[in-house]
Amino acid sequence: MKFVVNGGRKLRGEIEVRGSKNATTKMMVASLLTDEECVLSNFPRIGDAEITKELCSSVGSKIVIDGSVLKIKTPEITNFKVTKLSRRNRIPILALGPLLNRVGRAEVPILGGDKIGPRPVDIHLEALGAMGAKIEIDEDYYHAEAPHGLKGTRIRLRYPSVGATENTILAAVLAKGQTTIENSAIEPEVIELILMLQKMGAIIEMGSDRKIYIEGVPKLGGVSHKIMPDRNEAASFASLALSSPDNEVKVANTRQSDLMTLLNAVRRVGGGYRVEDDGITFFGAKNLSATNIETDTHPGFMTDWQQPFVVLLTQADGTSVIHETVYEDRFGYVEDLNLMGANIKVFSKCLGELPCRFAGDGQPHSAVISGPTRLSGRNFKVRDLRAGMAHLIATLIAEGKSEIEGIEEIDRGYEDIDTRLKKLGANIERVK
Ligand code: EPU
Repeated sequence: MKFVVNGGRKLRGEIEVRGSKNATTKMMVASLLTDEECVLSNFPRIGDAEITKELCSSVGSKIVIDGSVLKIKTPEITNFKVTKLSRRNRIPILALGPLLNRVGRAEVPILGGDKIGPRPVDIHLEALGAMGAKIEIDEDYYHAEAPHGLKGTRIRLRYPSVGATENTILAAVLAKGQTTIENSAIEPEVIELILMLQKMGAIIEMGSDRKIYIEGVPKLGGVSHKIMPDRNEAASFASLALSSPDNEVKVANTRQSDLMTLLNAVRRVGGGYRVEDDGITFFGAKNLSATNIETDTHPGFMTDWQQPFVVLLTQADGTSVIHETVYEDRFGYVEDLNLMGANIKVFSKCLGELPCRFAGDGQPHSAVISGPTRLSGRNFKVRDLRAGMAHLIATLIAEGKSEIEGIEEIDRGYEDIDTRLKKLGANIERVK
């Protein structure tokens, strides 16, 4: 499937943000911790939720989706091996803790996901190992056992990885004794998972300085939870809206508290926004100015906002500098933007001040953007989810016609994106 886009249209109106992809999938896995029903509302109809549905069904979950409500119940784990899924993503490894807690064994497929660097899972495996899991890896699967059950312990993560923090929490809530996670991730999606687990009966305290304390309990129960709005969708729509002075777009169902760092960057480039009770309205300015950004873990500027914001910065006056400190190789898409007329150079030096794990190892993790540049339509194949969104935003800004192939990647994280963009006035068609 592809999108055919005729760019340069004025965008005005309201676009509603759906439930967060990176919270939804973890909550579906969290439901495996109980034999009772879990109800998730504001559920997004996206590709990654479909893959997670496949994962949960393969171990015994009964799932019903009605509009934007998902009901999931796993009375018993009928199979400790997650069958091979139709597509690979980053979620199956999070099922290790729930399966080990419920049946003492777990086999989950090796991960896939966006091609944005090697993305190892060593921190996940070390944490589960410290809690008593024995894990072996072959070409296709992680094979795990916890013959004596999982036990709470003190774990210090080498890096505040979102996935490793969530994995440890999912393992610790039903483990024996107390687990302390030091240097944990504190992204809003992690907090959202903790809130759901608390409602299910878990005892989790947030300490100062990235510490999380979990007191294992013998059993968790069902829950009803409304999924938080997707802050990556919000940042994508904001970047698009700000790209032209003719645009005025209300990004509805979004929360200022999740977007504080983004909103500061918007002010710095001279874009306008107005925070309202039920969303934030963004409007472009005639002269956007260049800025410097360093991506970081929360509460820093999110790495997933980097790509749409870089597209916006191609329209800003002057030289912008981006230092990506979360992933070592997340600028692949700029090659395509340059073919559209952008002027972006990528460097392996750290062009910023934050401590960075990639200093001196030759990874292309900084970029310099000179603007403003006029973009013209072009044909592409999508590389990964956020890069795909960057392509899409660029083609909506560009003059002329573009075709974007491989849009299943974009569908993984953005529900029915073409229909929603059309309502703003975008000229975009989905073609089979
Ligand atoms: N890392 C390790 N070892 C590990 C785990 C992570 O070295 O065991 C490294 C990674 O290679 C990366 C960094 O730590 O360089 C951060 O990875 P993290 O584990 O925090 O990321 P993740 O849990 O795999 C989630 C989101 C990503 C988002 C990151 C950072 C999901 C499904 N994915 O990934 O979202 O970029 O956190 O906030 O929650 C996206 O939605 O497009 C996306 C890529």
